[in-house]
Amino acid sequence: MARKFFVGGNFKMNGSRASIKKIVEDLNNVDLPSDVEVVIAPPALYIHCAKELLKNLEIKVAAQNAFPKPSGAYTGEISAPQIKDAGADWVILGHSERRTIIKESDEFVAEKTVHALENGLGVILCIGELLEERDTGMTLVVCNRQLDAVIDKVKDWSNIVIAYEPVWAIGTGLAATPEDAQSTHAEIRQYLAEKLGEDQASKIRILYGGSVNGKNAKSFNACPDIDGYLVGGASLKPEFIDIIKSRE
Ligand code: G3H
Repeated sequence: MARKFFVGGNFKMNGSRASIKKIVEDLNNVDLPSDVEVVIAPPALYIHCAKELLKNLEIKVAAQNAFPKPSGAYTGEISAPQIKDAGADWVILGHSERRTIIKESDEFVAEKTVHALENGLGVILCIGELLEERDTGMTLVVCNRQLDAVIDKVKDWSNIVIAYEPVWAIGTGLAATPEDAQSTHAEIRQYLAEKLGEDQASKIRILYGGSVNGKNAKSFNACPDIDGYLVGGASLKPEFIDIIKSRE
């Protein structure tokens, strides 16, 4: 079965009620390809508002994080059931900004992944290496270690989408070349096949993230192991629609 192309827009800590309304209205007003799954991830405060404004019910909403408890004394955190209740179907976990700035460990990301899946959310699981790790040939060691933490706890990956995001490419304007990205994606898929079996590995979507924009998205079209994008900065701009349509 072919893997459905997936384009996620991670707004990060950007936007206001007015700007998010504009993004959603722009998405409502275009014919989007039916063979692309589109998910937008506004800041948690705006999940409900985005969901209410979306007229194209094929477009789904994601949270950018979730705490691995259903409720309780966890000031400032949001739970998977609350994310569902607000209307989102997905959650981004393990983003490098949370791994590096908030110091989330591989194990904590795995714990969150288990909890989100158990509560019916799809998980966009981000992995990727820092520049110094890439420069020392550690890319796959790092990606495999980040995957291992989740593989240890989750056997059914049907509701997980992996986003390979080399940290050096995020927000820098320096996207990985299609050749480099394809090669890393293929190696990630091979690793998943070893750990989870060929069948599961062939079905898991692996997105590329890192400075994807309206101009360079098409350059990845010929890469068989790139199943979509997780877009940051460009998802806040009209070119997000060009990225969604980049396979046409
Ligand atoms: O989650 C998205 C990634 O961090 C990519 O961000 O497109 O701004 O480089 P970017």
